[in-house]
Amino acid sequence: MPQQIKQVGVLGAGLMGHGIAQVAAQAGYEVVLREVDDATLQKGIGKIEKQLARAVEKGKSSQEDADAVRGRIAGTTDYKDLAGCDLVIEAITESLPLKLEMWKELDAIVKPEAVFATNTSSLAVIDQAAATSRPGQFVGLHYFNPAQVMKLVEVVRALTTTEEAFETALQFARSEGKLAIPTKDKAGFIVNRLLVPYMLDAMRAYEEGVGSVAEIDEAMKAGAGHPMGPLTLADFVGLDTLGSICDVLFDEFRERRFARPPTLRKMLAAGWYGRKSGTGFYDYSGEEPRENPAF
Ligand code: CAA
Repeated sequence: MPQQIKQVGVLGAGLMGHGIAQVAAQAGYEVVLREVDDATLQKGIGKIEKQLARAVEKGKSSQEDADAVRGRIAGTTDYKDLAGCDLVIEAITESLPLKLEMWKELDAIVKPEAVFATNTSSLAVIDQAAATSRPGQFVGLHYFNPAQVMKLVEVVRALTTTEEAFETALQFARSEGKLAIPTKDKAGFIVNRLLVPYMLDAMRAYEEGVGSVAEIDEAMKAGAGHPMGPLTLADFVGLDTLGSICDVLFDEFRERRFARPPTLRKMLAAGWYGRKSGTGFYDYSGEEPRENPAF
């Protein structure tokens, strides 16, 4: 029997966390959104408010509903406010040591029957589950960016996950209107196993002079029907996040297809993290993105 979920904790109000919090609140859950400091928290909540206002402007939501969704999200910088949560989803930086440190603190605070979930893109779920006192109640819930729009949630069963916790996670994702696809706890799960080598290969194609950045993107949009080209998508995911994901996949599988191409390594050295930093394969400082003149 799946557990009843009323209150959901979300750790991290960044690119993924703010969207995960919004989706849960839209599905009627009470949400506690935690960030490390108030400025970062307010930035994340601001993004949610902007999306809600846009939905009202477009006539997709009433002002009353938007207010109710916003009213279900409580921001905090204190782990103690997550004590009564039934489900806690982490969406912090893709770093195992940071995630373990965070779970260690939370494990002692959150009620023992609560389910913990990681939104990791690439790390094995078991490595986090085993570091808590509740390895049975630990799952992967992997959302896609933008979480408010993308239909899929990969629901990952670690070696230790109980049937009840897994069912709880599946039901939760479905209750949000998502397509919940179960996957094994294999680094990259289904989507990133396929999508990450694709983005890296687009960088290699650029390095080999097959086409320019914009040509590669336009070709994949027009030729394969993708909503974004692979290099635009890499900027959108975040080049730093993509770098961390491909490192984990490379460590796990030792296959060249997961290795960082030199272009990615150099862009990260330059501090170009894609759309979020204003520079990546494209320059986002103007009204419309334009190809980064460095390419
Ligand atoms: N939050 C909320 N809603 C958003 C949004 C956001 N950040 N971005 C776009 N939307 C909404 C818009 O409001 C719009 O809604 P309506 O149709 O109701 O008006 C709708 O999405 C379409 O947006 P736009 O018209 O602005 O632009 P678009 O048609 O180009 O769509 C897109 C934007 C949905 C991002 C689309 O380009 C797309 O699907 N791109 C591919 C995204 C993708 O592949 N994501 C997965 C990345 S991999 C990942 O996340 C996994 C990982 O671990 C790294």
